[in-house]
Formats: sequence, structure tokens, C-alpha cells
Amino acid sequence: MPDTTRLWWHDAVIYQVYPRSFADSDGDGMGDLPGITAHLADLRDLGVDAVWLSPFYPSPQHDAGYDVADYRDVDPLFGTLGDADKMIAEAHALSLRVIVDLVPNHTSSEHVWFRAALAAAPGSPERQRYIFRDGRGPGGDEPPNGWRSTFGGPAWTRVSEPDGTPGQWYLHLFDVTQPDLDWDNPEVRAEFLDVLRFWLDRGVDGFRVDVAHGLVKDRDLADWDYPDAGPWSVPPEDNRPPMWDQEGVHDIYRQWRTVLDSYGPDRILVAEAWVQPISRLTRYVRPDEMHQAFNFPYLFAGWTAADQRKVITQSLADNATVGAITTWVLSNHDVLRHSTRLGYRERLRKLSGIGVGDPQPDVALGLRRARAATLQMLALPGSAYLYQGEELGLPEHTEMPDEARQDPTWFRSEGVERGRDGCRVPIPWEADAPSYGFGPSDNSWLPQPAVWAEYARDRQNGVPGSTLELYRSALRLRRSHSLGTGTLTWEDAALSFRNGDVRVLTNFDESPVALPVGASVLVSSEPLDADGRVPTDVTVWFTT
Ligand code: GLC
Ligand code: MG
Repeated sequence: MPDTTRLWWHDAVIYQVYPRSFADSDGDGMGDLPGITAHLADLRDLGVDAVWLSPFYPSPQHDAGYDVADYRDVDPLFGTLGDADKMIAEAHALSLRVIVDLVPNHTSSEHVWFRAALAAAPGSPERQRYIFRDGRGPGGDEPPNGWRSTFGGPAWTRVSEPDGTPGQWYLHLFDVTQPDLDWDNPEVRAEFLDVLRFWLDRGVDGFRVDVAHGLVKDRDLADWDYPDAGPWSVPPEDNRPPMWDQEGVHDIYRQWRTVLDSYGPDRILVAEAWVQPISRLTRYVRPDEMHQAFNFPYLFAGWTAADQRKVITQSLADNATVGAITTWVLSNHDVLRHSTRLGYRERLRKLSGIGVGDPQPDVALGLRRARAATLQMLALPGSAYLYQGEELGLPEHTEMPDEARQDPTWFRSEGVERGRDGCRVPIPWEADAPSYGFGPSDNSWLPQPAVWAEYARDRQNGVPGSTLELYRSALRLRRSHSLGTGTLTWEDAALSFRNGDVRVLTNFDESPVALPVGASVLVSSEPLDADGRVPTDVTVWFTT
């Protein structure tokens, strides 16, 4: 790293709070800011360094708050701006940093700008904040191009002009209620610089930047013909997607970086960019751009020694070329929880959306591997993100009744894709309380499965061998051995590496593996066998 001074985010473990589902203070079934504030001490006690909160801004909630109607306020569902200030102050008092979500690719269709755009004429300044175009074909009846929405269906919707006649089309790479902004418009750029300052002035320590690879589109809005356009496709350099990962996005982040730097070196930007290969991703963390970028190739890598070793090696090497740290992650609010993803023996092509009637995961296998995966991740140099509930070993709710689903993916794909609700279920704090202690009532905006009792925090607290205690031990040891700022050296053919004085071994083999003579175990994701060997799907940290 070029930076000789150690900054908090170089090795921080950051806990993602999904406000809707973390803790409900008022019993309406929706998590809220006072609920979060009340539980910050539990996160301090878990041993994380920071929290990242998914959006809590005013929003019609068509995409769970990623459809923002006002970037400078709090939705009454979650509380008030005063509650946000209290949450930030309480976090800081506990030495926890706070990262908030910034959604710059699109606004809600309820945002004043979009309402004004609908009321104004084609070509007006109000329309030029978004991407309005005339349709193709006779009468402009066909969308301007064939782009598809990420949630299913076309990426264009036609509006009625103020006089009632069929009018122009607007682009939405996500839901129809999430119109894309036009980042070529200087007014859009100025607005977001101001939004950054608004939250920096309130004391936040950084921003997770939603869809960071999407803001700039190819000027010609060229059609794109690529058979496998899923997030994991790696299109060839000469056929790059015209809507993702355009060169122009980097200018935006360079400008944002100067704003953050003017507040000192401790305020950070973290990119949510679904970009492959890793060498394209590291362009977002060049020294004058963002600080971190989620390493999704790691999240999605196969559970084999070879795949893991390859992705870890590549991540560290590619990030080093730009002097960046690597930012590890295994779960978030958009993908299957890793305890479920790893409960399938075949590598899943799906990122989310398991439901009733689908092949179900092997829950025990998934949890065992998830614990091994997390213990491996927390031994790697760099920063790491945890998603609320993973410290309890929570599985995905894979049998949620379809009637309960709320993700726009489910509706836009007309039930073909079940969507992401399964990882967003309110989390259990107390086994025997209403809504498992999520709130004071039985209400919960998504149904909680009956198995939640056995995962509740109070059932695991202080219980040796529980997932909660495993996370606590790992976070404590990671800190005391400075693993986050360490250097990784591979030791042999199996997945085994050294980081400072700590040696780490994950056993992917069918048979148990012996530790070197004189090994002293620091922590292990499952008990060793009777002969002191490391069983299959187990990670161990040890010293010799
Ligand atoms: C990001 C968010 C996701 C949201 C989408 C549109 O991928 O993580 O939850 O639906 O952006 O804002
Ligand atoms: Mg509430």
C-alpha cells in the first residue's frame, strides 16, 4: 500500500445493517433507527469496527428504500432526522463508524425532480435530469432500444404527456419506479456533491455507493447483443455492455474523492460494482477514486481449494497494482446468505431466489461451510463486510410463501425469479419473545420461519461453539494478531496460508488433515476430531 499511515478502513470489519429487518422499536413490524441505536452496544460487543446502513431515506419503498424520494431526510417508517443524528452520535460514542448508503444511479419516481419531469415538455431542463427519449417505429410506439431491466421486463417505460397523449420513454435499469438520472447533466453532478456534504456534515464516516458501475451510459444508447448478460458474465473487451462500467464513471468518483478528502482521510467511499474481471473492479479503487470495492468475485467463488486460492491470489495481486486493499464479503441483502449458498453441493448459478418447491439446501452442510468460509475470510488481509444475522448462522428463508414476497424482482419477472426476500427476513434476538425479539409485537414485514428460535442471539450468547461466539473469538483474534493489516503467504497445495504469526488451514478434502507437530489452535470453525485432526469443511487458525 502506498499509504504508510494506517487508516481505520484498511482493515475494518464492517457490519451491514438492513434497517427494515434489524430491530423494530415501535412494534409496526418494520425495523427503525431507534431500534438500531438501541442495539449498537451489541455490535460493539460483537467486535466490529463500523456499521453500514442500507437506505432509510423517504421512499415509497418499491425497492425497499433503494428508490429514494428525498436524499436529505429520513422516512417516517424509520424515524426522523433527529433519530439519525442520535444513531450516529451513539455509534461514535461506542467507537463505531457509520457508513450510509448513497443511491445515485436513479431516484424514486416520487422524487420532486421526476414529478417535475413528467409535468414538463420533452426537451425541457426538467426532463434532461433523466434519460427521456422518443420511441422508435411509427408513432414512437417502440422503446428507444432493447435494454432490459435488471429486475425483468424492458428498461424503458412510456409516459403520457401532460396533455394526455402517448409520449416519450424514460430509462430505468431497475424498477419502473426507479428512473435513471442523466449523469452528463451538470445539475445532477452538483446535486450529489451537495448530498455528500449534507451527510458528511452530519458526521457520517462514508458512503456505500449503490450501482457504482451504472451511472454513465454509452451516449448512443447502443443496443447490446450478448447472450449471457448476467452479473457474472465477463464480456470480451470489444463487446462491453453500453450501460455498465463505462469509462466516464471514474471522473465522478475522482470528484467525490476530493470532497471526502476535504473532510480528512477517515471518510470513505465503497463501491457496489458488479464488474468482472477483478482487474476491472480495481479501477474503482485507484488512489484518487474510491477507498474500497466489494469483492463479489470472492463472494461467488466455488467452494474448492483451487477456486478459493485462485480468487484470493488474484484479488490481492490486482488490488496491489493500484495500491488498494481488498474488501472481502460473503453475504449481503441482494444474494443468498452464504450459509445457504454453500449448502448446495453443486455450484449455484443463481444469486438469489429459492422458494417453495425448489431444491432445498443441506442446512447443516451449509452452516458448517459458512463457518469455515467466514473464519477464512476474517484471516485475510484487508477489510471485510458482514451481513446482519450471519453471526447467528442464519440461513436464507428458502420456503417463504410466495404471497409474502415483496421484492420487485418477483413482480417484474412475473414470478419467474423469486427475488431477494429470503435474505431480508427480520432477525431473531430472543427465542421466546414475540417476533423473536425483533420488536415488541408479533409484527414482522416478512414472515419469520419457526426455526428462528434456535438461531436467536440469546440462545447463542455465551454458549461455547455457537456461531455468535465463533464470530466474537475470530474478531478478537483478528485484532490482536493484526491480521487485517498483515501479509498472506501460501504454504502448500491445500488451502493453507500464513498471515504474520497465524497459520490458517481450511480442509476441502474428504479426509481429515493433521496439523503440524506442536501446533497450538487459536480458533476452529468446528471441533477437531478425536485425533486432533482437522475434519472436512473446517477452518483452523493456529500458531506453531
Ligand atoms: C443495488 C442494491 C439493490 C437494489 C439495486 C437498485 O444493487 O444493493 O438492493 O435493488 O441496487 O438500487
Ligand atoms: Mg418500527
